[in-house]
Amino acid sequence: MPSFMEPFRIKAVEPIPFPSPDERHEALAIAGYNLFRVPARKITIDLLTDSGTAAMSAAQWAALMAGDESYAGANSFERFESVLRELTGFSEILPVHQGRAAERIVLGQLLGLGDISVSNTHFDSTRASVEAADAEALDLPVPSYAGILNPFGGDLDLDALAELLDGNSGSRVKCVVLTITNNANGGQPVSLLNIAGARRLCDRHGIPLFLDASRFAENAYLITQREAGYADSTPHEIARTMFDLADGCWASLKKDGLANIGGLIALRDAALASRCAEQVIAFEGFPTYGGLAGRDLEALAQGLLEVLEPEYLRYRAESARWFGEQLELAGLPVLQPTGCHAVYVDAGLLLEHVAPQALPATAFANELYLTGGIRVSELGTLVFGKPGHDGGPDLPAPRELVRFALPRRVYTASHLEYVVDVAEVVASKAAQLRGYRILRQGGAMRQFTAVLEPA
Ligand code: F0G
Repeated sequence: MPSFMEPFRIKAVEPIPFPSPDERHEALAIAGYNLFRVPARKITIDLLTDSGTAAMSAAQWAALMAGDESYAGANSFERFESVLRELTGFSEILPVHQGRAAERIVLGQLLGLGDISVSNTHFDSTRASVEAADAEALDLPVPSYAGILNPFGGDLDLDALAELLDGNSGSRVKCVVLTITNNANGGQPVSLLNIAGARRLCDRHGIPLFLDASRFAENAYLITQREAGYADSTPHEIARTMFDLADGCWASLKKDGLANIGGLIALRDAALASRCAEQVIAFEGFPTYGGLAGRDLEALAQGLLEVLEPEYLRYRAESARWFGEQLELAGLPVLQPTGCHAVYVDAGLLLEHVAPQALPATAFANELYLTGGIRVSELGTLVFGKPGHDGGPDLPAPRELVRFALPRRVYTASHLEYVVDVAEVVASKAAQLRGYRILRQGGAMRQFTAVLEPA
């Protein structure tokens, strides 16, 4: 029995596809053995991402009708702005169509040739935005110690940051970015202690501190659970404390906005905001809609209130914890502790006989699909490996992870029980699984388009 109950009942339902084993084999072969290329109508349970996949509430669906589609100064913008001002304390609010637009615009203003952006870990689109500004994205995550459970594995290594800032390259650092929670590093939270420490170092060196706040509510909740002294605080209070420590934030609102599209730039500095607004006009739309419809702004304004409800967040964290525990009992090496938005499994430990160049995490993910129609994402050598020099073998990723992402309010405990059953079957035959060869690949972000064949 799960240790939690979904804090909602279901009003509208959507059938899920049940392709036969033969149909799954055919679909995967046609897709070049790349799950990104498999059509959703061939997927039974889709845990590819928690981004843009949330189920909206009745209140959000009702809010859509109130959407004001005026080109400039719509009511829906005023509602969005007032919810975000109250939530973040930032005065300057700019909507954009999704997270990567926000980071491209803000980082484009902050960085230039030879500059450095430091982060606990830049998400891959954030790194791409830093590099598009001809700057360097430097990740300084806290070191992980084998066998030790770190409640704040998402933290930034403050000692390493202090050393960098005091060293020869210190003057090249133009911003510090804390990704909360740290998606590229196991979805782990960042503590208030760590955010405050980063703030002090930034103040000492006159550098701005920004949050990639895509999963701010989940980070806030995990602080109430894990950080000494905050058990009696509400997620809303913690969220505000986190924002108070920063100069601004950007976010993909496709996660904790509880809607299917949207992004945000929120700043204190009016001059920086007005430079960003010019870019929003050039690439997104008038600054009161930023590439979104009025109804999207309404759904987001409502979603941003709902996402901080303690009952919802408790369910979110508990379901991830329980799901991770069940996968572990089923024989999978699960990264512990789990965060909220996903459970990460180290497929490299199950497929030690498959070399990183033969993509063990992909082999494991593909087998989950073939066995039970489940789609997860690979975070191994296909995503983080680098093509070898002069056509040589790929340089492997540090770990062969797969991510079971949890769309918000979409799947029930019985769906997750089905995933655990399938994963158990796959884990039991891991020693027989074969790897893959890359037949064709693009440049950056090759995982989206690569075509593979069984090795
Ligand atoms: N920052 C973080 C921490 C993210 O996880 C993402 C997206 C983005 C920025 C970019 O936002 O997709 O709205 O443009 N993460 C998704 C994922 C794609 O599956 O983890 P976006």
